[in-house]
Amino acid sequence: MNFHTRKWVKPEDLNPNGTLFGGSLLCWIDEEAAIYAISQLGNQRVVTKLMSEINFVSSAHQGDIIELGITATQFGRTSITLRAEVRNKITRKSILTVEKMVFVNLDQKGEPAPHGRTQIRYADELFERRDLGDVEAPKLSVDDLAEEPAH
Ligand SMILES: CC(C)(COP(=O)(O)OP(=O)(O)OC[C@H]1O[C@@H](n2cnc3c(N)ncnc32)[C@H](O)[C@@H]1OP(=O)(O)O)[C@@H](O)C(=O)NCCC(=O)NCCS
Repeated sequence: MNFHTRKWVKPEDLNPNGTLFGGSLLCWIDEEAAIYAISQLGNQRVVTKLMSEINFVSSAHQGDIIELGITATQFGRTSITLRAEVRNKITRKSILTVEKMVFVNLDQKGEPAPHGRTQIRYADELFERRDLGDVEAPKLSVDDLAEEPAH
């Protein structure tokens, strides 16, 4: 899993306890996961269907830097399942993992549509236009795709 996204915990991200507000973190995870799903499926019309149990095992304080990692664990017919992990770069502790996040690929009518993907695409693979009626493929560069895993 690559930890591409980093966030700096600011005052507006804190709960009354003075630690990172879970809602802010979940918003970052959902957005990051959606961007990942869009990149992998080549379609901007992708929605969150399910997030599995979330267990906050440690937290972060103002000024801490956290990093988010996302990877695809399963490609279905119309869905993609992702796993997410968030770590605190300062304390080096894991903050949480989300074992299962399901995103569904939609057509222009908002109905689930087959995406035709079966495996993770990495940065050296070209972004392909999807045949989903008038839905335009996102104008993303190959830099937006996942990088090759470290060997
Ligand atoms: C996403 C939505 C169109 C799916 O509708 P649906 O009737 O469940 O569609 P389907 O039954 O055809 O299932 C679509 C896919 O989701 C999967 N899925 C459905 N319910 C699931 C669940 N509870 N857990 C895991 N996967 C699920 C199905 O297995 C299928 O995947 P597959 O084709 O790869 O096998 C519909 O539920 C919806 O619009 N939900 C709201 C989405 C939303 O607003 N999200 C928040 C904002 S992004």
